[in-house]
Amino acid sequence: MIEKSSPWYSYALQDRPSRSGSLPPPERFEWGTAPGMGPGTPVLGQELRRRRILELGCGYGRNAAHLAGLHGAEVTAVDLVDLQIKQANESYGKLAGLTFVTFDGLDFLNLGRSEFDVVYSVFGAVGLVSPSLLLAAVARRLRRQGILAFSVPHPSRGGIPRARGAQPRPDLLPLPGGPGRPVARWELDEQGWRSALGTAGLRIVRTFELGTSPRAQPNTLMIVARRN
Ligand SMILES: C[S@@+](CC[C@H](N)C(=O)[O-])C[C@H]1O[C@@H](n2cnc3c(N)ncnc32)[C@H](O)[C@@H]1O
Repeated sequence: MIEKSSPWYSYALQDRPSRSGSLPPPERFEWGTAPGMGPGTPVLGQELRRRRILELGCGYGRNAAHLAGLHGAEVTAVDLVDLQIKQANESYGKLAGLTFVTFDGLDFLNLGRSEFDVVYSVFGAVGLVSPSLLLAAVARRLRRQGILAFSVPHPSRGGIPRARGAQPRPDLLPLPGGPGRPVARWELDEQGWRSALGTAGLRIVRTFELGTSPRAQPNTLMIVARRN
């Protein structure tokens, strides 16, 4: 179980759905920081029914609920923080084909054996765990030609280039009413991700830069890759 002193526990305390109790699955899958900015679910495959999908860092489970509830996918959604998983189960736990698990994303990949068609992360474990460890573990659990898709904070958000490659850099996790909490983040630009993915046996097939509106500066880098 995660310590209550963890920044991600503080994050979970304020990352809540709009109301309590059982909820219908959200109409949209969100990749970015503003509604409707990303490419939706077609980048994960045209037919998602019965696809085995894993989310790494699901929060309260909105995107996982969309995939299970509206596309009929078999989704396992993992988050480090038990409070997030409790909230996810309360909101979406009744949906068929959806399992929420409290686990560190890297440990879940390393300890399990089952294979997935798709692995994804939306500001989740990808970028918050060493890419050399995490991407190798993802590749071991993805079927051949399976898809890894992820969103990370853009490495040049706010006009400041931050890409560091192999070393993580300190970032502030914004929390309402407070100064933010420090987290370590691996900030790679597209070329850095291409190289890290290539080392793990994955190749980039699409890249998107997303902002808060079509004309706003990008604040999100989204990458879709396939296992070789
Ligand atoms: C910014 S939130 C995004 C949540 C969700 N993907 C969404 O879009 O609403 C990041 C989430 O990743 C979780 N997380 C951070 N590090 C993780 C790790 N190593 N393994 C699994 N989950 C992690 C946090 O607890 C948090 O719920």
